Amino acid sequence: MVHTLLLSTFDLGRLTLSNRIVMPPMVIWQAGEDGKVNQAHLEHYRASVGAGLCIVEATVVSPEGRLAATQLGAFDDAQVEGLRQLAELIHAGGSLPGIQLHHAGSKTTHKKNYGLPILAPTDIEDAPDGTAALNEDEIFRIVRDFADAAERVADAGFQYIELHGAHGYLGSQFLSPARNRRSDSWGGNLEGRTRFLVEITTAVKARLSSRAQPPVVGMRLGVADGEPGGLVLSEGMQAAQILVAAGVQLLHVSHGGSLPGFADDESRWSPTLRLAEAVRPLVSVPVIGVGEIRTPDEAEDALSLGVADLIAVGRGQLADPGWARKVITHQSGAIEICQDCKPKCFHFSEPSKCPARKNLRRRGELASS
Ligand SMILES: Cc1cc2nc3c(=O)[nH]c(=O)nc-3n(C[C@H](O)[C@H](O)[C@H](O)COP(=O)(O)O)c2cc1C
Repeated sequence: MVHTLLLSTFDLGRLTLSNRIVMPPMVIWQAGEDGKVNQAHLEHYRASVGAGLCIVEATVVSPEGRLAATQLGAFDDAQVEGLRQLAELIHAGGSLPGIQLHHAGSKTTHKKNYGLPILAPTDIEDAPDGTAALNEDEIFRIVRDFADAAERVADAGFQYIELHGAHGYLGSQFLSPARNRRSDSWGGNLEGRTRFLVEITTAVKARLSSRAQPPVVGMRLGVADGEPGGLVLSEGMQAAQILVAAGVQLLHVSHGGSLPGFADDESRWSPTLRLAEAVRPLVSVPVIGVGEIRTPDEAEDALSLGVADLIAVGRGQLADPGWARKVITHQSGAIEICQDCKPKCFHFSEPSKCPARKNLRRRGELASS
């Protein structure tokens, strides 16, 4: 198949992406306690460049919000230099450098966040180390942390900033009626539950507005989840519209922590890609679709059928870091396809055991690790 759409350029505000492949944010757990970029990050991203947009992994904005002890950070000026090196090498490889800004909320433990308080919209019973409900001052402090972190990553040269509003982390926790039981203006109806995400969007955009070339600000939004009493798609679709009205310029559609079910199973697309397909007609900004796209042919089909404007290939690019480069150089047949390991992708714990990477090492395309 010819990948005409996948390889076509795409205008994102004043920026132009060289193709419509996205490297979605994927943590590699390589930072130390200082949260700084190190050699392992530089090597990982250098090996994977080529996608039109490369979004660096979830990078935490406040020390207590780490989802893992080895997470990258943007909460300290000392982290900017490493982030600058990362942005530069991504740019040099032909990708637009993007980065995801994140706060875990209750989805962490004291071991992971170095003993700091574990904060959530409401006290959550199922957090292993307990949680403290955020008061309004703390919420505004975290909103400021997002703006401060955005300034740091913009100084570092990132041109796309993605705010994390998905996967059960703090933004998702605020959105979910099951997780957010507040009765003040940060909870209750959909408008209240969306307020935290609106505030971080507004604060980040205001902070960047005086720059000659402000980065594009987008959001990874979990528009539905499968939790009983959780966020339903009809509300998630409204939240997407509220956030676009608040200034979100690119929507990366995903789930809110667990996959929602669909009444019919006729679709050829994964549940998260179906969420993107549902949201795209409702919003005036481009949509990134993601989920179980393994081959360039599938990505081309998803684009041509209007599922999304850009297609993110996650595990596919972890399995073969040359995925995007091989599509660009018309060597798609040489892509080592992700084998969808069960119960969980090896890249969460032991990347060296990824079977596709083992094949690449055998072929001499990857150094042995
Ligand atoms: C090892 C690994 C790390 C991930 N880290 C992040 C992350 O930092 N932020 C995020 O929003 N999603 C993260 N994800 C989810 C991916 O971005 C992507 O949405 C998911 O893997 C589905 O896409 P795929 O089927 O193409 O892999 C991660 C996924 C994997 C496998």
